Amino acid sequence: MQSEVSSRAKNVTRYGCLLLAVSFLAGCKLPGKPKDGPEVPRPEQVLSFDELYAANCSGCHGAHGEKGPAMNLANPEYQALVDDASLRDIIVNGEKGTLMPAFGEKQGGELTDAQVNVLVKGLRAKWGKGDVLSGLNAPTWKATHAGDPAAGKLVYEAACARCHSASGSQPSKGGSILDGSFLAVVNEQMIRTTVIAGRPDLGMPDWRSLKQSGPLTDNEVTDVTAWLMSQKPALPGQPYGSAAPAQPAAAPANKISGKD
Ligand code: HEC
Ligand code: HEC
Repeated sequence: MQSEVSSRAKNVTRYGCLLLAVSFLAGCKLPGKPKDGPEVPRPEQVLSFDELYAANCSGCHGAHGEKGPAMNLANPEYQALVDDASLRDIIVNGEKGTLMPAFGEKQGGELTDAQVNVLVKGLRAKWGKGDVLSGLNAPTWKATHAGDPAAGKLVYEAACARCHSASGSQPSKGGSILDGSFLAVVNEQMIRTTVIAGRPDLGMPDWRSLKQSGPLTDNEVTDVTAWLMSQKPALPGQPYGSAAPAQPAAAPANKISGKD
């Protein structure tokens, strides 16, 4: 149907954009040594949030922190959910299993510790609105234990299927998140973060109104994430080098993580 075709096309375009951005980043090391001088500051001397964000992040996360191919950072709930240390860790080390690159110098990236600190502070100053989750009993950003995929399937049916379809092949307004090529480039944290903080830039509500009968509990978020990860194809065609599947022999074809 029309809507399904267009939401799939949207996913394909989105991840196509991510790949483009990745290859651009890989190929854009400045040749030679940049000249000293006020007009051309050395890259490591740039300490303005706006410049650092525009040069390193906006291609994937959107010029204004939203509506980019990757998660929206200009979501006050997201800013309240994640602590400074975790933000710094993601920027320095990247997010394994997704297309989020590592920016730390020791990790082969281009950003100094000082620049990472500017980014962390700037993200808060620009897009944080303080502790907007205070008193709301929000699930924690990181899962505290492994989820139960079987319980997660029921959560999916109660809280996700009405927007994302009951199977990978039905039309849905949120697009199919059961699509193997989508699952191949996301990890547990990305899904968890999206479920808790929502995607206000794309019209997905937060954890409080996904299930019609009430907010999702921390366990439900953990379980639905585990179930989605268990749907990741064991051999997703390996278009992305980092999305290494678990040993195919060790698990049934459609499960690579979690318990049965
Ligand atoms: C090549 C694309 C790309 C670039 C460039 C990029 N990111 Fe990301 N980022 C991603 C993807 C993909 C994810 C995983 C989540 C998703 O799929 O939306 C991610 C995730 C994140 C997260 C974690 C969200 C969570 O789950 O809690 C943060 C924080 C983040 N990026 C910050 C940055 C910052 C700051 C920069 C610039 C220094 C940056 N990113 C540059 C693609 C990118
Ligand atoms: C009220 C409708 C609605 C519900 C319920 C809902 N979502 Fe969404 N979701 C959306 C919309 C709309 C988008 C944005 C789709 C787009 O523009 O690509 C989205 C996007 C997402 C994305 C990001 C996809 C991408 O392409 O980056 C993930 C992951 C996601 N949803 C997971 C879930 C999970 C898991 C649940 C159940 C716990 C859920 N959603 C429930 C509407 C919903």
